[in-house]
Order: sequence, then structure tokens, then C-alpha cells
Amino acid sequence: MPRPITATISIPAMQHNLRHVTESLHRQARECGREPPRVWAVIKAGAYGHGIDQGLRGFAAADGLAMLDLSEAVACREAGWAGPIMLLEGCFDTSDIDIVDTYGLTVAVHCEDQLRMLEQAAPRGPVDVKLKINTGMNRLGFAAGAAAAAWRRLAALRRGGVVGELGTMTHFSRADDDADATRAQLSVFLDCTADMPGPASVCNSAATLTSGLWLGLPSARPQWVRPGICLYGSSPFEERSAGQLGLRPAMTLTSRIIAVQECPAGGSVGYGHRFTASVPTRVGIVACGYADGYPRHAGTGTPVTVAGRPTILLGRISMDMLAVDLTQVEGAGIGAPVVLWGEGGPSVDAVAEAAGTVGYELLCALAPRVPRTVVPAAGAAGRTCEPEEMQ
Ligand SMILES: Cc1ncc(COP(=O)(O)O)c(C=O)c1O
Repeated sequence: MPRPITATISIPAMQHNLRHVTESLHRQARECGREPPRVWAVIKAGAYGHGIDQGLRGFAAADGLAMLDLSEAVACREAGWAGPIMLLEGCFDTSDIDIVDTYGLTVAVHCEDQLRMLEQAAPRGPVDVKLKINTGMNRLGFAAGAAAAAWRRLAALRRGGVVGELGTMTHFSRADDDADATRAQLSVFLDCTADMPGPASVCNSAATLTSGLWLGLPSARPQWVRPGICLYGSSPFEERSAGQLGLRPAMTLTSRIIAVQECPAGGSVGYGHRFTASVPTRVGIVACGYADGYPRHAGTGTPVTVAGRPTILLGRISMDMLAVDLTQVEGAGIGAPVVLWGEGGPSVDAVAEAAGTVGYELLCALAPRVPRTVVPAAGAAGRTCEPEEMQ
């Protein structure tokens, strides 16, 4: 029998989150008499650890899919996705352009090298391009002062039939915590794209969920938002939980108690004796450790649910196990169900916060050895995935 740990991926939750975000955008658009933005569902990093297959099923209603890896993009096309696919970091090598062309992918062009690749390549069909502009994050993108020249070169490629649809994009660095910094980035974007028609894309989850931010772009320019994390039911904000935002967890990590220890007052638990009991404590040992992707920095006090009751972790996380306090969880013994995060347990964000990180990292870091079960969309059959399938 395999270890009892499982990650359950809920397609209905993913569908709900996409619908929830889309409906809110449509509501805002109606109130302002605007066209609603279209939605790129971001499925990079194997759909944030949920698996590209699951991303395809959960976000089948999205207008487009955005990711990084050429191989993931090709997998989406081969699985039958006919809509737009955007490579958020564009091409890494001239040879990529051939594949981009064959599979009809949209590419970001964020630097001189990528611009030259397009100028030197001779794609069979026009390639759709998003000129990426660095408006203050200083990660990817042309500096605002260099964007106009890059745009002119792309426009020339468009006239020559190498580039198809030409649009613009940028990425916000503080949409989750600083409205002024975000407005400043938006203002740089608006200034430098004033003469760049075509679709514009600026909003990640935090910006998409910030009421009305997308309305700051001119109504004449079609707009695409690029939410990622919120579609998986994790909040991009420190101050607002996923539940408060109306999102549902797409991933639930569960396991079971595999041993129980009666720890006397003064006894300590686990490596380094990081927890010492002040009163007699029933300790449950759970089949889940950092080799499963559970964060080792989560210490005593991290929330966990055992047999439907909220309790806490005790001491250090081991490679394959962790310890929980069963003192108040009456009747919970070997075999008792444990929810590490997700439906029926603490949110992934609460666990991440206890470990000094963010939900993104926990979801993406789920180890390949953890078996996945997929809850299908209503009317579809469920299945268990081999971990390899989920890469
Ligand atoms: C360019 C770009 N757009 C959109 C996203 C989605 O961001 P989030 O998951 O915060 O919604 C990311 C994620 O890092 C990104 O790099």
C-alpha cells in the first residue's frame, strides 16, 4: 500500500475561480459601459503545481493560456487547445521561432536579442507579439525610453508579414500591497504606449482583483488580464484571504496519522527538540514531510486539521513526517485523516505564512512523489494521475 499522502486537484474549484474572476470583470465593465477584458489564464510551472492537463480542463473557458515553457505550450496545442497561447518570456533561442510558428503561439518580446531573433528568422506565418515594457519592476522588458524604437521595428516586421497581431504588456511589482506604486507603473505604461495601438495586458491576479484598476487603460485598446494564483484559490494579498475573495482551493493536500506518542511534560518532539511539552501531550505523526513539498520552515503552531478539528504542528518537519498536537482531538489515532492545506483544512496561504513564504511556492513545490487525484468537472469521470503525468 502506498503512503497515505494525496494531493487532490479540483477541476470544479478551478472552474469556479475562473468564473468568479470573469464575472467580476464583466460586472465592472457593464457598470462603466466598457468592453470587459479578456483573460489569459496563467498556467506556467505546470499550472502552479496542479498539472498542465488540469490547467487545460479547469480553464477551458479562458480566452487564452499563458505560460513559459515551449514544451508546455506544445502540449496544450497537442491536447487540442485551439485558443491563443502566450509565452510570457518569449523565445530563448532562434530555433524556438520555428516551433512558435508551427504551433501558432504568441510571444512576448522583452529585449533586443529577441527582437533580433524575429528580424533574422523567417517564420512561415506571422507570429503574434506582445512588446514587453519595463515600467518599474526592472525584471523583463524594454526601458520606457527604448520602447518606441522597439515598437517601430516590430511594426516594420508586421508590414513585412513576419509579425501578426502586435500588442503591449507590462508586469506590476506591487499590485498586492502598494496602490501608488502600481498607479505609477500604469502611468509609465500609458505614457509610453500612447502611440501603440493593439491589445494591452498589464494585470496579474492582484491587479485583476483590485477593483477597477484595469479601467485605467484607454477603452479603445482591447485588454487582456493575466491572473494566475487566484485561479488556483490562493490569495495574492496578505490582508485578504482567498475565502474572503470568494475563491476555492484547487489543491487539497491530505494524509493520515501513522503513529501516536504520549509525550510527558518536559518531553520534546522531533529533530533538534524544537518543541518541548509543558503538559502531557498526545502527538500524532503524519505521513508528510519536506520531501513531499511541505515547507520545512513551518514550525510549531502552523495550522493543520485532524479528523475535522483544527490543531497545530509541533517541532521540526522531517523529510517524510511531521508531528501534530492531538491533545484536543479526541479519539484521533492511527489512520485519522489529516488536511495539510486546502478544502476542509487551513488555506495554503495560512501554512505558507507560518513558513515565511507564499502560497505560490507551496503549490509549485509539491513533490512529484505525491500521488494526485483529480476531481473532475460535473459530468466527467474522475481519475488518479501518476505523478509523472503531472510534470
Ligand atoms: C508576466 C506574468 N504575468 C502574470 C503572472 C501571474 O501572476 P499571479 O500569479 O500573481 O496572478 C505572472 C506570474 O508571476 C507573470 O510573471
